[in-house]
Parts: sequence; C-alpha cells; structure tokens
Amino acid sequence: MIKVSPSILSADFANLGEEARKMQQAGAPWLHIDVMDGHFVPNISFGAPVMKCIRKDFDGIFDVHLMISEPLRYLDDFVKGGADMITFHLESDSDPDATIAAIHEKGCKAGISIKPKTPAEAVKPYLDRVDMVLVMTVEPGFGGQKFMTDMMPKVTQIRQWISESGREIDLQVDGGVNAETAKVCVEAGANVLVAGSYLFSKPDYAAAIKTLVD
Ligand code: DX5
Ligand code: ZN
Repeated sequence: MIKVSPSILSADFANLGEEARKMQQAGAPWLHIDVMDGHFVPNISFGAPVMKCIRKDFDGIFDVHLMISEPLRYLDDFVKGGADMITFHLESDSDPDATIAAIHEKGCKAGISIKPKTPAEAVKPYLDRVDMVLVMTVEPGFGGQKFMTDMMPKVTQIRQWISESGREIDLQVDGGVNAETAKVCVEAGANVLVAGSYLFSKPDYAAAIKTLVD
C-alpha cells in the first residue's frame, strides 16, 4: 500500500493546526515534519515545540525528518512532541547505531536518510534494525525543488535489499514528488511518498492525494 506523507514545510505556518486537520480529513495517513537547524542544511524551519502544538490536530503517524547536525542530542524533545517515526541523516554528526537504539528505547520507529550524493550501500549495514529508509530526491533544505530522477536506481537497489531481508521496512522518497514523479518512485520501489509544495498548492487536498496514489 502506498502511503502519502504531506510535508507541512509547505503549509501556511500561521495556520499549521488547521492545515494538519485538513490533511487528516483529506485522508493523509502520515504527516511529514521537516526540522532544519540552519547548520546541517542552510535553512531553519521549526522545532519540537511547534510540532507539539499541532499533535492534537492530527491523529495519524507523525513522521519527523530531522535535518539537524546532532539528532541524538535532541531526540527527547521530539519524542515528547509526539513523534511516531523519527528519521535522521546518516551524514549527521551523531553515531547511527546509538541514534537508532535511542529512538527505539524511547518507543518510536527509526528511519535513516541519505542525501543525493550518499550511495545506497551506506544504509545497507542498518537494514537489520531500521524501520524506514528515506532516499532524498532533492538536496535537503528547501521545498519546491526539482525531482532528481537519477536517485531511482538507489531506490530500486534498497527495495531489493529490503525484500531479501524479509523485514518490514518502509522506503520513503522526499523532494519534488508530484503526480508524475510519484509514479516513477512507486515503480522504483518506494512505498511512502512525501509531498510538500505539490499538495499544499492544490485547492482540494483529497483530490491531490489521490493523484499520488492512483
Ligand atoms: C526538503 C524537505 C522536504 C520538502 C519537500 O529538504 O525534506 O520534505 O518539504 O518539499 P517538496 O515536495 O515541495 O519538494
Ligand atoms: Zn523532508
């Protein structure tokens, strides 16, 4: 089953609660929460307190994408903010094994993400313990960028390793996803589609979500 995770980075920040509720009503099972520290990526978005405020407005999976240099240091805040899935970058300064273990200890699912220049092989050693792999299809930092089709071989390779592992691991793509590129991602093996500017620019969120999964 293909799951859509709308990225609230593209929502109206003055109405985050209402936007989250609208996405819930439109049938989004996940909500993607992009945390940026202005250090790991050249942009600052919001942190755990903002996320905590909208937890009451969305019943589904809170899918937190940490684009921060020290994810391990701030995990507690995001757990308390209501995270279900916490994804950190393999390229961050925190030790991946310690971070995965800490996320699990705190009762959340753990995802590991790779930037466009990081090869698929880099995540292979973690497939026996992560719950999700996120393959970035843009350079992280900003919404509204162009989809990188050349990331699809990585998605296909990781999907093959996931199948071989026999474990249930979600494979997420993030960046430049729209009705056309969603099909390319699903064909390559992705099952969770993050979409920001595409969804939030549409007047009818439910109809827009359908165009990604149909
Ligand atoms: C980019 C973020 C994405 C972003 C996607 O660094 O991780 O989640 O919001 O936005 P679109 O769908 O507009 O590319
Ligand atoms: Zn993201």
